[in-house]
Amino acid sequence: MLPQEVIRAKRDGRTLTSNEVQEFISGLTNGSVSEGQVAAFAMAVFFKGMSADEAVGLTLAMRDSGTVLTWDLPGPVVDKHSTGGIGDNLSLMLAPMLAACGCYVPMISGRGLGHTGGTLDKLDSIPGYNTAPGLDLFRKVTREVGCAIIGQTADLAPADKRLYGIRDVTATVESVPLITASILSKKLAAGLQHLVMDVKFGSGAFMSKLEDAQALAKSLVSVANGAGLKTTALITDMDQPLAPYAGNALEVLHAVGFLKNHIVNYRVQETTVALGAELLVSAGIAASREAASIQLLKALQSGAALEIFARMVAALGGPKDFIERPESYLKAAPIIRPVYADAEGVIAKIATRDLGLAVIELGGGRRRADDKIDHAVGLSQLLGKNFVSDNNTPLCMVNARDEASFARAAALVKNAYVIGETRPEVSPILERITA
Ligand code: URA
Repeated sequence: MLPQEVIRAKRDGRTLTSNEVQEFISGLTNGSVSEGQVAAFAMAVFFKGMSADEAVGLTLAMRDSGTVLTWDLPGPVVDKHSTGGIGDNLSLMLAPMLAACGCYVPMISGRGLGHTGGTLDKLDSIPGYNTAPGLDLFRKVTREVGCAIIGQTADLAPADKRLYGIRDVTATVESVPLITASILSKKLAAGLQHLVMDVKFGSGAFMSKLEDAQALAKSLVSVANGAGLKTTALITDMDQPLAPYAGNALEVLHAVGFLKNHIVNYRVQETTVALGAELLVSAGIAASREAASIQLLKALQSGAALEIFARMVAALGGPKDFIERPESYLKAAPIIRPVYADAEGVIAKIATRDLGLAVIELGGGRRRADDKIDHAVGLSQLLGKNFVSDNNTPLCMVNARDEASFARAAALVKNAYVIGETRPEVSPILERITA
């Protein structure tokens, strides 16, 4: 079948058969479909959408474009995936918490995208940690430690790598079926049995409107379940930074403090436990979300999750005593200075995306795909909504490499915070989407 006929069919709004989708994706993977044809296909899907069955077909075809892992482990194989935000370092805590509860977590994470941070960039701030260890070591660490967080390998869902690269430069990223197939093809290729999606919504998320986040969450849940992967989704708040830290080494430091029970943060804990509880119930490890929450909190409070995190870091090449003295391994920025609001008062609103842009200004994120990241820089002690900012309480500490980037980031931070009236506290979990 000619690729142009598949594109024409989609352009005219016809539902593609799974055979047509498979052939197109196989041509995309082996290079016989040209870049222009892939771009035209992406744009046709962007405008005409896809039915749930079509999106399942696309996801499976992309999964099957490379290696599909299988696992033979004594417990369930699970994962969490977030659509991205600011101060969202939950994977670093949740993976070992789940492993401490008897799950296996082969987590394939991404780099920062747009204004949001990426788990891999955070882990790269740990000296020696290998985020591209090859599939054999990935399997070994998952089996022996219970969790391994690494980056996308060339073998898993290569069709997504090519399609994503073309979408990125043809204004076709923001298509619900294409995002769905992109995320889920990689998750299915990792051989997962249970998945929870953290779909963020608000000023720091890709989906700033609740309806868009709901549509994406519903699509992810229905396509994942249609493709045989048991999945639920939580829509969570990204109208303020999740953790009070944004920046790579700073977020790792926060994760270690959290796993040591030295840092207690209600929003981080509530979100981490709620996501983990979805998986423990789905995998049959807990009878209810309440019972699952208790198990996860025990894993945290007993230090079991901390120990697993330490073993994962060491097994993937990081320092053996990392958790004992993370500050001596993680680079700190030379300038660490407070930024105060111009007026005293309660934080009513935060333009959270601008905080992500401030991290990029500091060098902690990328402007171009090949930019090098400065892991030491970022924002710490970020105030959340309803906190009082005054002469003694800065909006945050800016961790900068030099004066010029400090000034640019400080201006963005000041503008991002709106002082006003106290608002009722909202739970960080807005909605639960199930099949
Ligand atoms: N993350 C992905 O992996 N793919 C998308 O299309 C968007 C976000």
